[in-house]
Parts: sequence; C-alpha cells; structure tokens
Amino acid sequence: MSGDDGRIFGLGQEEQEQLRLLALQQPPLADAQRRRSSFSPVPERYSLFQDLPGYKQLRLQRTLYEKMNIFRPFFSCHERKAKERTIINGLEFLNFSTYDYLGLNGHPEINKAAADTMEIFGTSAGASRLVAGERPQHKALEQALAACYGTEDAVVFVSGHATNVSTLHALMGHKDVVYHDALAHNSVIMGAMLSGAARYSFAHNDCEALERLLRQTRSKHERAIIVTEGLFSMDGDIASLPELIALKRKYTCFLMVDEAHSLGVLGPAGKGISEHFGISPRDVDIWMGTLSKTLCGCGGYVTGCAELAELLKFTASGFVYSVGMPPPMAAASRKALELMLREPGRVARLQAASRFFLAEAKARGLQTGHAQGYAVIPVIVGNSLVAGLLASALFERQINVLPIIYPAVEEGMARLRFFLSSEHKEDDIRLALDAVAEELPRAAARAN
Ligand SMILES: Cc1ncc(COP(=O)(O)O)c(C=O)c1O
Repeated sequence: MSGDDGRIFGLGQEEQEQLRLLALQQPPLADAQRRRSSFSPVPERYSLFQDLPGYKQLRLQRTLYEKMNIFRPFFSCHERKAKERTIINGLEFLNFSTYDYLGLNGHPEINKAAADTMEIFGTSAGASRLVAGERPQHKALEQALAACYGTEDAVVFVSGHATNVSTLHALMGHKDVVYHDALAHNSVIMGAMLSGAARYSFAHNDCEALERLLRQTRSKHERAIIVTEGLFSMDGDIASLPELIALKRKYTCFLMVDEAHSLGVLGPAGKGISEHFGISPRDVDIWMGTLSKTLCGCGGYVTGCAELAELLKFTASGFVYSVGMPPPMAAASRKALELMLREPGRVARLQAASRFFLAEAKARGLQTGHAQGYAVIPVIVGNSLVAGLLASALFERQINVLPIIYPAVEEGMARLRFFLSSEHKEDDIRLALDAVAEELPRAAARAN
C-alpha cells in the first residue's frame, strides 16, 4: 500500500500528509496502560502497543481504505463451507479464494471419516504425540502420505507453517547454510532464521543465480539445504526441479520442496511436482506439504527417508512441544488423499479449468506474469491501491478474490490472486474475467 519511504501510491502530497496525521492520532489509553507506574526509567511509549511501527502502519492502511471507500477484504466471514461458491453477508459469491483445489471439502466420505473418528476419540489428541497424544489416525495418515510419495516414512505436524519452521530449525545450525528461492513462503524464511544458519535468497526460480551463489559460498559451510516451492503460491509457476536436483548433487546439499500448492494440482494423479516432471521422489531429500489445501484438513507433513522422520519426531520443536493433530482431522486428510488418488478426474478438471482461465485472461490482455496455468493465477494490476480498488469493485459484483499488495509483493507488482478449483465452470471463469477487464481501467483511473 505504501512504498519503503511510507509514500502512499495514488494520492497527492497534501492528501498523504492529512491521511498520515489522521492515522497517527492516538486512540485512548487502555486501562492497564493507564495504571502503569510513573517511576519507570524507560519512556512510557515503549509499553504502548499503538506505538509499535507495525500498528502505525496498520492504522495508516485502514485510514486509507476508509478514505478511498475500499472494502477491506481481510477477515470477511464465510457463512458456510467456502468452495467455488461461498456465502458472505447472506449473499452468494463466486469464490476464487479457496485452497479447496479438488472440491473435496465437505465431501460426505470425508465428513463421515471425521465424524466416526470423533465418536471414538473426541476432538483433541490432548497431548504431544511423544508423550500421551499418539492415536492410530496419525500413523495411518503418515503411512498414506509416504505411500503416495514412494518414500520410507512421514511425519505430520499441527500446522503447515510450523512444519517448515520446525523442520529447518531441527535440521540446520550455525555452521550450515540455507539457500531459498526469493519468493519462498514466510515459514521457510522464519525457519531458516531460527536455525541460525547463514541464509541466501536466490532470484526467483533462477538456477543460474543459485549456482553462482553456491560457487561463491557453499564451501564456507558444513551442511547446506536448497528450499523451493513446487508450484509457487504467488506467481503460479513451477520450480525447475530437474536443475535443482542436479545442483544439489553437484554441491552436496539437501533439497527441500514445499508442495503446499502442488499436491493435488501437478501431475496426472495430483501427486505433485515429481509426477509432473516424471522424476523419482527419492531424488528429493525432504518433501514438505500442507494438509490445509487439497487435503481439506489442518497441519503439515514432511516425508522422506526413515531417519529424517525419526529425527523430526524426536527433535522438531513444533512436533515435540506441540499437541498431536486432532484425530478427526487426521482421518479427514487421509480420506481426502484416498479420494484424490481414487478420482483423478478431479485433478484433470482442475488442470483444464486453470488452463482455460489462463488462456481467457491473456485473451483479455490481462497480465498473468509467470503463471503456467495450474490452480494459482495472478492478475497483476500495478500498484497496491489499484489492486484494493479492483478487489473491492469485484466484491460489489459478488466475486470474491483477494488482493496481494505491498509488502507481500513488491510495489508495482500488486495483484489479484485467483485460486482455481476443479469445480469452477467455464461460465464462472468468463464471468469473473469479463468483470476484471471492465473494472480494471476504472480502478486504475480512480487510483491516479
Ligand atoms: C507455500 C506454503 N507453505 C506453507 C504454508 C503454511 O501452510 P498452513 O497454512 O497449512 O499452515 C503455506 C500457506 O498457505 C504456503 O503457501
């Protein structure tokens, strides 16, 4: 929404100043803060949440949204399961903001698996699996994931984000190095930082840039890991896996692939990027993925060799010091995986809908960046204000798609990010893209 210097795009200088003053007006002090001792040796502002830079930035954004009459899409409440259609404020929306790639959320077999499990085990595992939280559904899900990948074993965590953080933290240390794609998910960056390893980011999906880094820095460290996403969640392009495997061999690195957005999406059976390229899954050391997308649950997984799974189960902090996955959730994700493999027609429909979307977007002259036509397709619109105004205009037309704005992407690359599902029909896609093509020039004119 604003540049590094705090400048707000699409507003005159005087307006920007007024807005900033408006946003920085301090809200009244909370009671607890008013009771603070007056003898403290540090200035009082260090104990005020509203004085934190992040909070000031939030207020600035909120004031801008209000002033420009832009609907704030965050936390909008969906009143039933969000699929290719959803209900918000009692109205039906065409929905392009769900990770339910294969349209499985709410499938009767998945609901039944969860409900049957809940009858016996209740809703919580109640403890870390290491101590008293192990239930049969955990191992069953891990075995199903390992069988799907053709790996030796797997381990499931209660959060996808925590899976990356805890895995990188558990595997890497101060003498090591993490190389990650410039567009790596926040959880990868947090995990790398927490591990204490040196960290280098290479230009997005650019194996030549990675090799230059490896040549310059690899020998200075003990262990090294290259981390990439399979299908990139912001741009919808596919990692150059064969080249990454060659580099990890040449420079003796682990290779970790985050399949959050590629399981269920890539490959004829939805088995992910290795199936897409026809590569043995054993050529990658660490497969990571989330259970919250195609697999309709909550949590994440790592799969690979038996030693890796064993190590994580005894040392990964987000596993050892966190509760086991609720058994009904584990049963639900296992059933979703079974359905994905049993009904490859869902994957084919998702891929066809995605290809159709990409072709139709291009035909309307929309900028889709690096997208390759697999489930995630951005429409790049320029600055953050245009993205906000456009999403708002689409929302008015009962089309739900979220803007991705600075700092999640660099300013000038703000976008609407469309997630496709196997259930989107060609008419849905045409309707949405016609609306984008109509509203984009209006949003751009309002922003300038
Ligand atoms: C690439 C990637 N990795 C990890 C995660 C974290 O997964 P979860 O939301 O299931 O915690 C996400 C979330 O969207 C993601 O996009």
